[in-house]
Amino acid sequence: MNPGTIALILVAVSVVAWALFMVNVTVRRQRKAATGAASREHPVGTHDSKGATVVPSTAAVGAGAGGGDVTVDTVPKEKLKPLTPEQLAVSRRQLLNRAWAASFSAFLGFFGMATLSFLWPKLTGGFGTRITVGSHEDLLRQIGPEGNFQPLFVPEGRFWLTYYEGDPGDVPVYLAVGAAEAKMQALYRKCVHLGCSVPHCGTSMLFECPCHGSKYRLTGEYYGGPAPRGLDRFPITIEDGMVVVDTGDTQEGPPRGVSTWDQFAEPKGPLCVPT
Ligand code: FES
Repeated sequence: MNPGTIALILVAVSVVAWALFMVNVTVRRQRKAATGAASREHPVGTHDSKGATVVPSTAAVGAGAGGGDVTVDTVPKEKLKPLTPEQLAVSRRQLLNRAWAASFSAFLGFFGMATLSFLWPKLTGGFGTRITVGSHEDLLRQIGPEGNFQPLFVPEGRFWLTYYEGDPGDVPVYLAVGAAEAKMQALYRKCVHLGCSVPHCGTSMLFECPCHGSKYRLTGEYYGGPAPRGLDRFPITIEDGMVVVDTGDTQEGPPRGVSTWDQFAEPKGPLCVPT
């Protein structure tokens, strides 16, 4: 079942439970009030409508004024009278109170559903999920030597797909899951300095942050500027010939000083963001 549907059901059940609780409280209160009214009509020790004396059922038997025994019959406990139609009727005030409570409940329910729907993670695609980018062969042609090593931006996953010249047998100097096998890396475009989006510069072949000038190589490794490390990245796998990137598992970028690809260790041309 869709998580959003589960959330809606939970909210709906909560609202119904709350409404039932409120109805129960209201009914109890009304019954109590009606009982109190009946007691006031026939208080203990007074005369009822037929002129009989009403005394407690546990009334003691006492001596009369003349010293003789006086027997007082124990008066049976007065039964509660059923509520009159007037008592059962809903007063205008009660009607307004209930209408107000119902509207407030409906508002709370809709507000809760809207909030949950907004906060509930969207697991059906987009950033934070596994994204199928496309055919491995096609992407290699696009971002590899045939495509002049131009990285491809994937907006759905907020990452740059770049060619990676590595050997699966190499000892990894940093975490780059699947990069050597796929010959490509998925670099999170968020600058590790203060979070700006980092564009790629076609002339220098570096990623250059426009905010404070941090620069990263084609591999996402640190080149210059205030950034504390290289760009973060996502695990990449090949499944049935398709490139799949898990954007829900961010891996910290390589530390400063790492440079694994001589060809792009230095800028290839003028910088887009001068230092
Ligand atoms: S946010 Fe990129 S260099 Fe500061």
